[in-house]
Amino acid sequence: PIIQELLGLSNLEERIRTFYKLRQVIVVPGDSDISIMAKQELGRAGAKALLSVIREDDVVAVTGGFTLAEVAEQLSPSIPAPLKNAWFVPARGGLGESMEFQANSIASTMAKRVGAQYRLLHIPDLLREDAYELLYQDQNIREIVGLIRKARIIMHGIGDAMEMVRRRRLEPEAAEEIHAAGAVAESFGHYFNEQGETVHQMLTMGLQLDDISKAEVVIGIAGGRSKAKSIHAVLKFGQEDILVIDEAAAREIVKEL
Ligand code: BG6
Repeated sequence: PIIQELLGLSNLEERIRTFYKLRQVIVVPGDSDISIMAKQELGRAGAKALLSVIREDDVVAVTGGFTLAEVAEQLSPSIPAPLKNAWFVPARGGLGESMEFQANSIASTMAKRVGAQYRLLHIPDLLREDAYELLYQDQNIREIVGLIRKARIIMHGIGDAMEMVRRRRLEPEAAEEIHAAGAVAESFGHYFNEQGETVHQMLTMGLQLDDISKAEVVIGIAGGRSKAKSIHAVLKFGQEDILVIDEAAAREIVKEL
């Protein structure tokens, strides 16, 4: 039965990989919506995928979220050579989420685990235009934003659009706009409709859409049956190279291929 189960998972991986022309798809057993073990397994697979692509002098930009926090948790320090010249940076500014799930904390935890460097971006994710311009005049901020925007690897979570609107405590007008535009997914601060088109952009510092297409390795990670729709939308957006999901999400996704 174990062999059969594994065969089943690799079958799911292959179907999604070929349909979306991805470099690699990893499907772990279980459903992260209901199982802590599945969540940990997902984190472990994400950590392994990241270690398999990271190079000595890389810049890795990471988003926040529970899933990325689990990846950081599962990153084992036991890699052959310490990555002392690699940099971890947050993809964007803070989210107003609890500290441990913010991209800044995740970047620093990951860096410490693998002996790499990190730089943080201590500004809010959402900015008014005048604040944006003022902050951008700061040398330090410009430097870190420059580093973020040249990340070779981007690792990001994928969320349900309206859940992320709530978590980010957006203004009612912005929330209404995102809802009306039919957004189903959120990732790295962008909102996507079912066709994978971006339907909402905000003025933020850090990664911009064209940085995502320029990055060499984009790793998306998400689990749980409830995330299937959002994962689909992000896959249609078409910038993923490596996808790490769980079985429950994968089974939903293949229904629509
Ligand atoms: C956010 C990321 O912090 O977490 C998003 O910026 C992602 O890219 C979201 O959509 C998903 O969060 P979680 O907690 O479900 O992994």
